[in-house]
Amino acid sequence: EKGGYDHFMLKEIYEQPRAYRDTMRGRVSEDGRSVVLPELSITAEQLRAVSRVHIVACGTAMHAGMVGKTVIERLARIPVEVDVASEYRYRSPIITKDTLVIVVSQSGETADTLAALREAKRCGARVLAITNVVGSSVAREADDVIITLAGPEIAVASTKAYSTMLVAFFLLGLYMAQTLGTQEEAEIAHILAAMDALPEQVERILAQADTVKGIAESIAKSSSLFFIGRGIDYAVALEGSLKLKEISYIHSEAYAAGELKHGTLALIEDGVPVIALLTQEDLFEKTVSNIKEVKARGAEVLGLVNEGHEAESAKSVDRQFAIPRTLPLLTPALSVIPLQLLSYYASLALGHDVDKPRNLAKSVTVE
Ligand code: F6R
Repeated sequence: EKGGYDHFMLKEIYEQPRAYRDTMRGRVSEDGRSVVLPELSITAEQLRAVSRVHIVACGTAMHAGMVGKTVIERLARIPVEVDVASEYRYRSPIITKDTLVIVVSQSGETADTLAALREAKRCGARVLAITNVVGSSVAREADDVIITLAGPEIAVASTKAYSTMLVAFFLLGLYMAQTLGTQEEAEIAHILAAMDALPEQVERILAQADTVKGIAESIAKSSSLFFIGRGIDYAVALEGSLKLKEISYIHSEAYAAGELKHGTLALIEDGVPVIALLTQEDLFEKTVSNIKEVKARGAEVLGLVNEGHEAESAKSVDRQFAIPRTLPLLTPALSVIPLQLLSYYASLALGHDVDKPRNLAKSVTVE
């Protein structure tokens, strides 16, 4: 049942190219120039009336939502807020009839997410669900559903569900943009072409798993480490940090790179590993200056960079791992892959139960 892999998590990591293809299939027009989402019942008129979007989810799904916020804001120019589902109801969110609430849940059964969905509907908002499980509570109660076609996810640590949630957000962001007219048709076609290349690019990263394994084995000796990044790199840093903590039990923190100097720098000591995500080239220099701050305190920096940018980043990091080049907005679909592998191999090196980490359940049905 593990298809020859030692663990479900590894199998599911390797299924991601297939999962990307399945999640895109049938959702792009034949000429490759537009997104088609026939499953949506929301009309163009209703979509044009949306003045704000709330994305509500837990854990890894919330991290996908943070990428979703950037995608929707950049492509469709609608303001988006992201909330942890267990907090949403209690902050008296301003939910109006022109609010679109997007709930994201792999299982579709997470209690807090479901409660947020019900609260949103009670306030008269439309709810769109991104979920991996057809017929789940979230799928049944939402007004609209985009199913991710990751296939059943068995490992407690979510991998392919996260990455297909990203694909769903890319498709939704493009769909909103083409409906609202906020992007040129050529730009939409350009982004779709870049999405088409993602599965093969993921395969190229997976072919370098041994390199990541070596890095993971050295990191596994540390008692604490940091992930830093700016913009969507920060969103991916949060996911990388969660994954590592979840299955390797190594303490780690993810920080917006510019925030380190507001307190956390005190924790950077000799030999502390810092994983710096540097995929956003317009922010490269800014993050490099933060790398200098941690290096001055003895940190060992691993840079996650774009192919072709290695010579530039070699000046500031100790080690690096390059991911294939894609559009800045799509990088999370690639940069998360080495981070998933890193946590898998760190957990393995420490002899933990990768698929069933302590104290966690696959589906959290209590609030
Ligand atoms: C982390 C993980 C959890 C879930 C969270 C939400 O690897 O699996 O953080 O992402 O419990 O679960 P769903 O997406 O089923 O609502």
